[in-house]
Amino acid sequence: MTAAGPTLLVLDDAAQAAAYVGQEVVRTLAQAPATVIGLATGATMRPVHAWLVAAHRRGDVSFAAATSFNLDEYVGLEPQHPCSFAATMRTALFDHADFAPGHIHLLDGGAPDLAAEAERYEAAMGRAGWIGLQLLGIGRNGHIGFNEPGSALESVTRVVSLSPETRAANRAAFGAETVPERALTVGIGTILRASRILLLATGPEKADAVSAAWAGPIRPQCPASALHLHPAACFVCDRQAASAIDQAFWTRSTGR
Ligand code: F6R
Repeated sequence: MTAAGPTLLVLDDAAQAAAYVGQEVVRTLAQAPATVIGLATGATMRPVHAWLVAAHRRGDVSFAAATSFNLDEYVGLEPQHPCSFAATMRTALFDHADFAPGHIHLLDGGAPDLAAEAERYEAAMGRAGWIGLQLLGIGRNGHIGFNEPGSALESVTRVVSLSPETRAANRAAFGAETVPERALTVGIGTILRASRILLLATGPEKADAVSAAWAGPIRPQCPASALHLHPAACFVCDRQAASAIDQAFWTRSTGR
């Protein structure tokens, strides 16, 4: 672990950890309404999206001036496919908030030329001035976005193969359908361009990945360890996800 590495914030439970991340989004947009937000999907992010929808309904936040870029998408799924991350985002957040449609950016898993789609997306992020606040989850194998173990730390947006464990972890969302074998993902190098990063991890099944990422060393086998290369990254965990890290490193918060 480097001295200037990420910070670790431990909250009592998953609801408080999600609320903290939601509050940081609201605070960021209150200060800079045109912030470019990097969004993630997955079970961990569901309560964050719900928290943001509730905050929007209360009139506590507007996304009207913001821009969003989602992290990843399954290859082969059109944006209308119910299992696509595009559909998930519409149902969980976009349909219930006031994002300007032209400011929502999603990777198109049904694009005929995937390399061109990845290039288009990376370029659009660059034109937007890169991400201001990036939200991340973490896979049980330490992945961020769909950057699986072995991904280059300087990788950019591209097509990747999903590991068997990642496909198994996401199987529930697909019912009888086969989980795609490939995905488009924003790269680790691209993620590291964000001004600020919040990695949210909740539940005991994330404890080993969080501990490996937190302890370092920085290595492609643990993609989340790349956050040590970033000057303003924070691991936001519940007690269970932080349980494999020595409590001497814990910064506690009441969740406000
Ligand atoms: C999803 C993403 C992934 C997930 C990770 C954890 O957009 O980028 O890295 O954050 O797979 O998924 P959950 O939260 O379902 O455990």
